[in-house]
Amino acid sequence: MSGLFITFEGGEGAGKTTQCRLLHDYFKGRGRDVVLTREPGGTPEGEKIRNLLVQRDGGQWTPMAECLLFFAARQMHVEKLIKPALAAGKIVICDRFSDSTLAYQGYGHGFDHDTIRTLDRVTLQHFTPHLTFLLDIAPDQGLKRSLAHNQSTTGSQSTEDRFEHLKLEFHEKLRAGFLDIAQQNPGRIHVIDATQSADQIYFAITKIVEAFHAV
Ligand code: TYD
Repeated sequence: MSGLFITFEGGEGAGKTTQCRLLHDYFKGRGRDVVLTREPGGTPEGEKIRNLLVQRDGGQWTPMAECLLFFAARQMHVEKLIKPALAAGKIVICDRFSDSTLAYQGYGHGFDHDTIRTLDRVTLQHFTPHLTFLLDIAPDQGLKRSLAHNQSTTGSQSTEDRFEHLKLEFHEKLRAGFLDIAQQNPGRIHVIDATQSADQIYFAITKIVEAFHAV
């Protein structure tokens, strides 16, 4: 059986992490070997880079340095974990991937889109997911959910919030960016209305996965 690489994208509080887990269980229940991973991170080295990028006191990176760190972690992730898993016929589900860099660093922070695409090409050599789910939600709703989730899971504010603390305006640009990227990649990216219940979202996603498998 051939491997399948599925990514989840979206702004804060869209429910990606929940849906990644549900889809993981869906495949497991059907006897498939599934790897659940995330970005930034996914390898021990990538997790170290993650701390530099997402912790509140991780550092004041220039836009280029920030992009290079995301791609450094991603290159390790693809070579050490994702490609070997796919070659072994496994399903890889990843919470965020390259679309996040174009959306956050490009559309959100205004870093040059062509430079990001070039870095992507140089580091990953056209390696892209087979399927991507973009969980779309209005930023004010998503941020409310995300802050409530942080408080309920940690009892206090998590410190992995460097990006969550940015202004609403940033998150509006981010959402528009993700939708733009989806429009440019209609075969790969499926936009899911993330205001629906977790069950409804799960149903929509598994329908698409089944249709993809049937092709
Ligand atoms: P995480 O806690 O995983 O956020 P979420 O639960 O929203 O996925 O933290 C990852 C943060 O890093 C998130 O705010 C998005 C940001 N990010 C980028 O800015 N660029 C990227 O390429 C990636 C992968 C993540």
